[in-house]
Amino acid sequence: MTPFSSKKTPIRVAVTGAAGNIGYALLFRIASGHMFGADQPVALNLIEIEPGMAALKGVAMELDDCAFPLLTEVVQTSDMSVGFKDVDWALLVGSVPRKQGMERADLLGINGKVFVGQGKAINDFAKPSVRVLVVGNPCNTNALIAMKSAPSIPDDQFFAMTRLDENRAKSQLAQKAGVPVAQVSELCVWGNHSPSMYPDFENAKIGRSQVTDSILDQSWLRDTFVPTVGQRGKAIIEARGASSAASAANAVVDTVRDLSNPTRGDLHSVCVCSTGEYGTPVGIITSLPIKVDGAGKWRVVEGIKLSAYAKEQIAASNKELLEERELAFGQLGLSIS
Ligand code: LMR
Repeated sequence: MTPFSSKKTPIRVAVTGAAGNIGYALLFRIASGHMFGADQPVALNLIEIEPGMAALKGVAMELDDCAFPLLTEVVQTSDMSVGFKDVDWALLVGSVPRKQGMERADLLGINGKVFVGQGKAINDFAKPSVRVLVVGNPCNTNALIAMKSAPSIPDDQFFAMTRLDENRAKSQLAQKAGVPVAQVSELCVWGNHSPSMYPDFENAKIGRSQVTDSILDQSWLRDTFVPTVGQRGKAIIEARGASSAASAANAVVDTVRDLSNPTRGDLHSVCVCSTGEYGTPVGIITSLPIKVDGAGKWRVVEGIKLSAYAKEQIAASNKELLEERELAFGQLGLSIS
């Protein structure tokens, strides 16, 4: 058999918290081609804090032991100037995870400063075309902090993750309707990755029909489905004793893959810096329905009709984001403008 070879230049991906639970579920999928495709070489810059470096060495040994044909290089470092050097993607996964009894916003003070440092390092060392996906919570506000700390990188290159919430919402609807999950589409989760997020079941579809034509129980949709999606992260923590890892890593793969390729069908939920779409406050990082055009540029899907109920839910979630921003920026001495 001819050995694998590809003429493509490797995509260099930095992952923070690389020895953590999400990192462990993520790196092997990047290296095996699930994120960028089966003929796209990748180089991994694995970033950890000093106490995590021994475990990181073990993860890097396991990557070696997979002999992934697409993996051209593995850098292990706790130095951000090395870790973010010339990267095409920065996946900011590492942060203190929430424990039982906490909300994601309780992590603002703990994790906020980390994202100032990472934003600055990305600004100084990454490629100008770098794209940044924030997973560490509270991910919307952390992404905003990183974005503000990286003034040379355009705002539209910063993202936070609500794909996990979209995937959760699709599964809940599929199970209720008794259909395969692949039949659920056009489901945007709007707002903050917090219990206030709004999974828009009114515009979602099962097959070609509206979800509301298949699931007629409005009170289940509003009073069970919406909070179940919003509280799913907490339910996982309660069941596992640790926050989601494999499903979060899977959503990272989904997000980056779908931002890297022209959209063929369904829209997806991604938190981006708002320019006022659908009346959202300008300048916050909030979840919106996204598609990628043929030139590779992401756009907010236009023309979605939102009911008064939906608008109210989305406005409440965005108000929470404004409050998080005020609190975090106050603590960190960052300016909103
Ligand atoms: C999740 O949604 O599972 C993650 O954001 C972890 C958490 O704290 O909920």
